[in-house]
Amino acid sequence: MFVKVERDYETMSQRGARIVADLVKQKSDAVLGLATGSTPVGLYENLIRIAKDENIDFSGITTFNLDEYEGLPASHPESYHTFMQVNLFDGLGLSEQQTNLLSGMDIDPVAQCADFEMMIRRAGGIDLQILGIGGDGHIAFCEPGSSLAGRTSLVALHPKTIADNTRFFDKKEDVPRKALTMGVGTILEARSCLILAAGDAKSEVWAQMIEGPVTSQVTASALQLHPWAIAISDRDAAAKLKNLDFYQHIDGELADQPELPLWVFQPELDQRRNSMPTA
Ligand code: PGA
Repeated sequence: MFVKVERDYETMSQRGARIVADLVKQKSDAVLGLATGSTPVGLYENLIRIAKDENIDFSGITTFNLDEYEGLPASHPESYHTFMQVNLFDGLGLSEQQTNLLSGMDIDPVAQCADFEMMIRRAGGIDLQILGIGGDGHIAFCEPGSSLAGRTSLVALHPKTIADNTRFFDKKEDVPRKALTMGVGTILEARSCLILAAGDAKSEVWAQMIEGPVTSQVTASALQLHPWAIAISDRDAAAKLKNLDFYQHIDGELADQPELPLWVFQPELDQRRNSMPTA
């Protein structure tokens, strides 16, 4: 994992947005995995600004979102459909055909989840998956105990996640208790991952994700198994990292290297990387 620490939320967001913008500049048909929550909002704001300033064409990209609440129609103000529309899609001028989100209202979630996996494959796989981390260490809605090989599915939310989400709803009873979510296995197939965290409330799980054991109790720790996971946080979220000095040393030493791996940009290299030896 590439661990990077920025001064504050804004510089963390700028650095994340720069990675996404440079990807789309170099690969106009990039496939982006997107996240909701308060953490990536700053990245999205910066991305919209950079896209305008540098005249970057986003019309060829495809996006897939990590998750959606079960039982909320797309038009609900707290649905992730609405969140994405307001925080990113409108600003980048993305069309409905370019964006893919799970529906919280499907009567056959099992079939929908299987189709979602197929759509990701048909699009060529996700080049860069943006992620946040939950207070219980989750990525997407992969709560403690989720299979680290799990695929997109309908899941029940952890009471902590439900409590964390209460702030967005008028009444406690309105907070969704289930969601459809990519699995950890789905996420690990992305060619690269970018996870963000800010604030001291995240410092404990951030340290567990980076320095703790790989465990389904902190599903974000599965990113230790990913060949190219970038973890950017502010100083507060990084406060409990034991090897902080070393990570900052590495970040300085590799400052002249590209943030994303070459295999994101070179399909032939990506194929070679994934092919099994024949003899
Ligand atoms: P947050 O949520 O960005 O609102 O803290 C993160 C998450 O639950 O994935």
